[in-house]
Amino acid sequence: MGTLDDIRVDGDRLWQSLMEMAQIGALPGGGCCRLALTDEDKAGRDLFVRWCREAGCHITMDNMGNIFARRPGRDDGRPPVAMGSHLDTQPHGGKFDGVYGVLAGLEVVRALNDHGVSTGAPIEIVVWTNEEGARFAPAMISSGVFAGQFDLDFALSRVDETGKSLGDELSRIGYAGEEDCGAHDLAAFLEVHIEQGPILERDQLPIGIVTGGQGQRWYDVTVAGQDAHSGSTPMAGRRDALAATAALVLAVEEIALQETPHGVGTVGALTVRPNSRNTIPGGVDFTVDLRHPDDETVTRMGQALRARAAQLAADRGVDVRIDEIWMNPSVKFDARCEQALRRAARVLGYPHRDMISGAGHDACMLARKVPTAMIFVPCKGGISHNEAESAEPEDLAAGCNMLLHGVLALAAAGLP
Ligand code: GLV
Ligand code: MN
Ligand code: MN
Repeated sequence: MGTLDDIRVDGDRLWQSLMEMAQIGALPGGGCCRLALTDEDKAGRDLFVRWCREAGCHITMDNMGNIFARRPGRDDGRPPVAMGSHLDTQPHGGKFDGVYGVLAGLEVVRALNDHGVSTGAPIEIVVWTNEEGARFAPAMISSGVFAGQFDLDFALSRVDETGKSLGDELSRIGYAGEEDCGAHDLAAFLEVHIEQGPILERDQLPIGIVTGGQGQRWYDVTVAGQDAHSGSTPMAGRRDALAATAALVLAVEEIALQETPHGVGTVGALTVRPNSRNTIPGGVDFTVDLRHPDDETVTRMGQALRARAAQLAADRGVDVRIDEIWMNPSVKFDARCEQALRRAARVLGYPHRDMISGAGHDACMLARKVPTAMIFVPCKGGISHNEAESAEPEDLAAGCNMLLHGVLALAAAGLP
């Protein structure tokens, strides 16, 4: 007779589920667009909830739309050990970012069912609302409310670019639950995710044990110049908001390069006003995302951004307003959870390395409240937030096996 250590997930079933979910919001280039709280997000949630019910789970939701799918434990009064991630995507998202961590959780439950394994503590699969921050900034907003990093009212009142609020959209798709966000007791949280970077592929390793996440600061920047005729206004004396923005975009790149190798800086969204071919742009709004594993360095990068903006404003006769909309400090994961994952890697015979997450994850929020750890698996070329995002079925299965054995250790499992 086998032992619990011999149990493995069904990698083909995991892959099939990923491919089925990827049909919701499918894009022509092979990726997905399921922006948070759109009809596509609702369809993805509906499919997940149906699959969880078919696997015998009980569903609850909180007032940020976070979904908890519970498989009872032998001692059902114990707080559950949770696994999960997000189902929302970037506008040009892939098939794996977030959805892998959710469906890997479902595959763990299905595998436990197949093998008739009961756990001491209940286990839960969690879907966190609006992880990406692509539709409603900031990112990780619902795991952030859960972990006490954002106020509920602040989160529900975030608006998308058309002025629709997160709270209204949550109600519209029918996922505003009753439970207070954060009231749900969790014993531990594990998230498996594609790496979204090149390290595991380069090192030819199937598994990364993530020891923490880097710090980040997000800004909304507005540059105000003056609309004027593109033909009749001499070059001297123009107050061209877009030309000033161009210089500031390059300054963001330079600021990050000064913190090589870990500093990163991105201008990802930009709106030009009036956006007419023959009017000198009088206004530009854009976003800045600065990150580094060391919080003091991110602070320094933010100071450098403000200094460069002040200089450009003076040189070019424009006004630059910089609002810091989010500061997310670096985070360290829980040593006991990491230990459970190291044991899992040993049991499974997977070579692995420690790493810091470059991307933000719900786990980075959860870690501020609940013992938390993360597992990474390689993705092709390290590419993510791209329709071409790709991962090997066997690596996805390996990460899911890590999740299974991590959860079994944390939930003190037993065979029937
Ligand atoms: C989310 O994907 C982030 O890291 O911004
Ligand atoms: Mn993600
Ligand atoms: Mn993402």
